Amino acid sequence: MNTQNLIIGFSMCALVSCSQDKVMINTAQELDYCHSQIERTLNDLRDSSGEINYQMTPFASADSATVWSLNKVCKDEWRAGFWPGILWYDYEYTGNPEIEQEAENFTEQLEFLSKTPAFDHDLGFLVFCSYGNGYRLTKNPAYKQVILDTADTLATLFNPQAGTILSWPRQVESLGGHNTIMDNLMNLEMLFWAAKNGGSQKLADIAISHADQTMKYNFRPDYTSYHVAVYDMTTGKFIRGCTHQGYADNSMWARGQAWAIYGYTMIYRETGDTKYLDFVQKATDTYLKRLPDDYIPYWDFDAPDIPNAPRDASAAAIVASSLLELSTYADSEKSEKYKKAAIKMLTSLSSDKYKGGTQKSAFLRHATGHYPAGSDINASLIYADYYYIEALLRLQRLEKGEPIVH
Ligand code: GLY
Repeated sequence: MNTQNLIIGFSMCALVSCSQDKVMINTAQELDYCHSQIERTLNDLRDSSGEINYQMTPFASADSATVWSLNKVCKDEWRAGFWPGILWYDYEYTGNPEIEQEAENFTEQLEFLSKTPAFDHDLGFLVFCSYGNGYRLTKNPAYKQVILDTADTLATLFNPQAGTILSWPRQVESLGGHNTIMDNLMNLEMLFWAAKNGGSQKLADIAISHADQTMKYNFRPDYTSYHVAVYDMTTGKFIRGCTHQGYADNSMWARGQAWAIYGYTMIYRETGDTKYLDFVQKATDTYLKRLPDDYIPYWDFDAPDIPNAPRDASAAAIVASSLLELSTYADSEKSEKYKKAAIKMLTSLSSDKYKGGTQKSAFLRHATGHYPAGSDINASLIYADYYYIEALLRLQRLEKGEPIVH
């Protein structure tokens, strides 16, 4: 295990009302914490004879619970790739072969997705967080084929008239047309990867078209985002922007904006086109300037009950991870701003207030899943933990002077 014990201290004058707050994070200590929470979860998953049912995956945990709630792996459980992804990240940190074995065991439950028609756009979350990280670390050729096949499956949802992927085939009727949600940006990474690793160039063309249309129609002039853009199914003409998981059609849903920040940072990395770099900085600055003091957003920036509204630690973890990457692309002034903001987010997430700690095996608490549906409010969420451990690994690479994404 890497026992590097680097502490970064920043005066946060530039960020928060010129207080002398010190922002401190010890990446090795926090990654060790993640590892011990993972060991706890694996123990919780074992039955009395020590067996794990790999078909059952952790997805959320109510604030008062001590263990994860589990769901069966299936095509419409969009969160099933995060737990194997967490195990791969932990294996990357620890080099522990038992963790590698568990990562393989959970990852391989998702192979069926490469062989069945697309249910919706979430295939990237499902397969790139699991098989993608697995292939990155092991170069297992069978994993590569699963990713390539799944990328082709995701591409079947592309509508050339609208120029975007249909995010939710099941919602065409209720939303009134072809729908494209902000979260869908995240799944483009698998298409870019496939195009560079033996798949068709058309996959990258689809990703670029989707990114451009989303930039045009899922944002308001102030760079805040609509969760959903609806297009005419046949002509592809844009109809309206609206919400599904946010407070209102015109509000800034925290995780939607977080997906946008992560998504366009990744799209700039994959394309090298500076229009995305310019755009993501505007979407980021809009987000940063409206954060509360601890940099963990309320679930929606326009929730009417702020400051009593629930927070969303998942949005904070997603943004922290992407800002560390963005800091490596931005000019020096912006780079410092984004790195300090990311470290401040991670410092808050790593405090007793936001950690599962001894009470529960999740890394984090106080995330919000689907507020309007009343589900997973003020809860631990598996994707919050996934982007938290990813951000810690990225910060550790920055500390070591290594490329942040590899
Ligand atoms: N992709 C679904 C969500 O962000 O809740």
